[in-house]
Amino acid sequence: MKKVRIAVFVSGNGSNLQAIIDYERAGHIPHGEIALVLSSRADAYALSRAALANIPSAVVSRKEFSDTAEFEKKIESVLREFKIDLIVLAGYMTILSADFVKKYPERIINVHPSLIPSFCGKGYYGLRVHEAALNYGVKVTGATVHFVNEVPDGGRIILQKSVMIRKGETPESLQTHVMRNAEWIILPRAVEMVAKMIAKGRELEE
Ligand code: GRF
Repeated sequence: MKKVRIAVFVSGNGSNLQAIIDYERAGHIPHGEIALVLSSRADAYALSRAALANIPSAVVSRKEFSDTAEFEKKIESVLREFKIDLIVLAGYMTILSADFVKKYPERIINVHPSLIPSFCGKGYYGLRVHEAALNYGVKVTGATVHFVNEVPDGGRIILQKSVMIRKGETPESLQTHVMRNAEWIILPRAVEMVAKMIAKGRELEE
C-alpha cells in the first residue's frame, strides 16, 4: 500500500513533531510516513529532532521573500519536490494565505491548544491562549486538531481532548499540561486518521 507522504510544518521546539515521530516509529501510523519537516526558522530545535530521526528538512523563511506570493510559491515547490499529500501544522507560527490553503482542501491539519471555538482565532496562539483561559476562569480546557481552511482555526474539527485546570496553574504550567496530556495524544492519532482517509479515498472514520 502506498503510504501517504506527510510534511510537518514547524517553527520552534517541535514537541508535537516529536510526538508524531514517536507514534510513527511505534507503528501507529500505518497509512502515512513523515517525508519532510519544513521549518519557518533556521534555528528551530524541531530541525534537530528531524535530523535525529533521519527525516529530510527544509527551511522556508518568510523574511527571505519579497512578498507572501513568492514565499508560498517556494513552499509549494518544496511540497511538489517531496511529493507531499498531507500537511501537518505543528507549532507553525507563519500564517498561510487563503489562496494557499484553498489549494489543499482537507489536506492541511493544525493543532490548537484550546477547545475550539473557545480561545481561538486571530491573535490566539502559544501562551496567549492559556492566559485567556486562566483569565476567563474556565475549569476545563484542552486541545483541538482541525482541518485548516481560510478562517483562522475555522476548519472542521477532527479530534479534541480536555484537561482539568488545576489550582495555582500559570500560563506556562497550563501550556505544558495541555501539550503533554492533550496535544501530544490527539495530533498523532489525527495524522493517522487523515492519512487513512486519504489512502482509502474515503470519509474520516472515528
Ligand atoms: C504549542 O504550544 C502548541 O500548542 C502550538 O505551538 C506550540 C509549540 O509547539 N501549536 P511545539 O513544541 O513546537 O510542537
